Parts: sequence; C-alpha cells; structure tokens
Amino acid sequence: MKEYYKYINYYGKDILKSKKVKSQKQFIQHGNVSVYDHTYSVAVLSLYLADKLNINVDEKSLVRGALLHDYFLYDWHVKDKSHRLHGYTHANTALKNAKRDFKINKIEENMIKCHMFPLNLFSIPKYKEAKILCICDKLCAISETLPIKGILVKISELKSL
Ligand SMILES: [Fe+2]
Ligand SMILES: [Fe+2]
Repeated sequence: MKEYYKYINYYGKDILKSKKVKSQKQFIQHGNVSVYDHTYSVAVLSLYLADKLNINVDEKSLVRGALLHDYFLYDWHVKDKSHRLHGYTHANTALKNAKRDFKINKIEENMIKCHMFPLNLFSIPKYKEAKILCICDKLCAISETLPIKGILVKISELKSL
C-alpha cells in the first residue's frame, strides 16, 4: 500500500470537503501547522505505520478517525473560559462535533475520545486503530513542535508517499 494520500482523499472525501473541516485551516495546532494539516498528516502517518508494521486495520475507520480526532473547531491559543482545560477536554468536544456533523462508527468514536491517552487517563484506546492514532498524534505533535528534521517525515514528504 503506497500513495497514502489517495486512501485519505477517498475514505475521507466528505470530511475533507466539509466547510467546518476546512475552517480548521485557520486554526494553528502546533508551531505553524494548522489543525487541518495536522490531522491530515496524522492520518497519513497512521496508514504508513499500520502498513509498515503489517497491522491489519480497518483503513476507512483509521483514516476517518484520524481526520476527525481534533475536530474541536476553535483556536485553542485564544484564552477563553469555554476551552480553559483544552488538553483534557478537546477530545470530548471533537467527538461531540464529529457525531453531530458526520456518521461515525464505534472504532472512530474510540479513536477520537481516547487520542489524548495517557493525559486523559480514563479514556483508554480500545481498538488497534485508536492505539495507532494515539501514537501517531504524538509523533506528529513532536515533529510539528521541535526542530528534529530527519527523525520524522515532514508532511510534504508524507503526502507524496
Ligand atoms: Fe488532540
Ligand atoms: Fe492531534
């Protein structure tokens, strides 16, 4: 399985086309990377990792859960009472929004709800797709935050895989 972005564009077509999802291009996630680009690169890295480690996954759920895992729809850098404890609360906010705007299955629900484990200690990833997302989200966050070129593949390179 190569050209991971083709799987993402196929399985996540309706998600990527959505106005609300596109609005995430204006919200910064880490460094100078938008929430939109962050979730896209997490989806690519999740497929890549599952492929390289020969883990038999539900690819469609893996892609959709990854694309929606940070669907909280606000700028977390802006101080506001409604998202004061962003790190602890945004997974549940993303899940609520995802359920409102898309049809999501049990695997995708667990992926979104539990992606912040172990910060959210009681939301434990149950499915292998959720475990992969949990790892890849952190790897992408590190690569977006720290200047460690060469250790992790950058998003532009990932997209061309
Ligand atoms: Fe998150
Ligand atoms: Fe994330």
